[in-house]
Amino acid sequence: MKKIGVITSGGDAPGMNAAVRGVVRAALAREVQVVGFLHGYRGIISEEIVDLQSPSVGGIISQGGTMLRTARSPEFREKAGREQAVQVLRENEVDGLVVIGGDGSLTGARALHEEFDYPVMGVPGSIDNDIAGTDFSIGFDTAVNTALEAIDKIRDTAYSHERVFVVEVMGRANGFIALEVALSGGAEAVLIPEIPFSLLEICDNLRKARSRGKRSSVIVVAEGAARARDVKDFVQKNTGFEARESVLGHMQRGGSPTSFDRVLALRLGAIAANRLISGFRGEMVGVDGGKLVHHPLSYVLSTERNIDPDKLLLVEVMAQ
Ligand code: F6P
Repeated sequence: MKKIGVITSGGDAPGMNAAVRGVVRAALAREVQVVGFLHGYRGIISEEIVDLQSPSVGGIISQGGTMLRTARSPEFREKAGREQAVQVLRENEVDGLVVIGGDGSLTGARALHEEFDYPVMGVPGSIDNDIAGTDFSIGFDTAVNTALEAIDKIRDTAYSHERVFVVEVMGRANGFIALEVALSGGAEAVLIPEIPFSLLEICDNLRKARSRGKRSSVIVVAEGAARARDVKDFVQKNTGFEARESVLGHMQRGGSPTSFDRVLALRLGAIAANRLISGFRGEMVGVDGGKLVHHPLSYVLSTERNIDPDKLLLVEVMAQ
């Protein structure tokens, strides 16, 4: 390969810049040129191409967001859009593409591989951490720490006012962030989309906790499980305890990546470039117990990543 391309696609995640840096510098070390396309798949279709030299990725390792910008591209979901994208890639003599993004973006990469036999390599980048084939996706650790910092602050005011706080974190279809911050933030309860819950039972537990002398509580809710406002209203009505809600929202997607996310992103970006240049294709790279691994995209996209039920149980035990 003489030239490879890189995109960041879908929801941004802290550490995507470090991954781009990993791709660019690993490829240049093998004397392979790198170009980036702005705005994910949309930018391939509209030929928003930028040359990436070593200095282009200088100073970005500490920055959140993505220097390549990102987008969710409806055009690319159509076969005609994908045909146009492959044509642009071939016309620009881009021999392979590294796609950094979540499951939607990886689905797009698989389509390029399967429909056009175009060489692709996926890098898991999503705060949700819901991608199979890797213990961690880029951005999860930073998002968890951002949410945790907010919850620690909320706990201070919850304590002072003796209130119940319902904190909504991101996670439309899964509760990985919610579960992690519920544990690290010492939450009294956590609601996630994967597991049915009873608000009446939660109210009961809050009452029992109050009779043991606990005068404030934090309930973490994944956005896909319930809306914080509805949970707050229910709790207030059923227990009579004063309650407030706080929706953390997109702040969880920004900020300087943690050391963990930077190292993860660099390693994944570099190995993705190296494998692509070495002739591997249609894979996603990941980590398993700290070691770098790779899996076919077909496996990654047909496998569900499940929450650890022991962690959920631990939240309950720790709230006693
Ligand atoms: O997939 C990442 C994510 O942040 C989800 O947790 C969240 O539900 C969604 O993206 C929000 O997407 P948007 O930025 O398009 O509102």
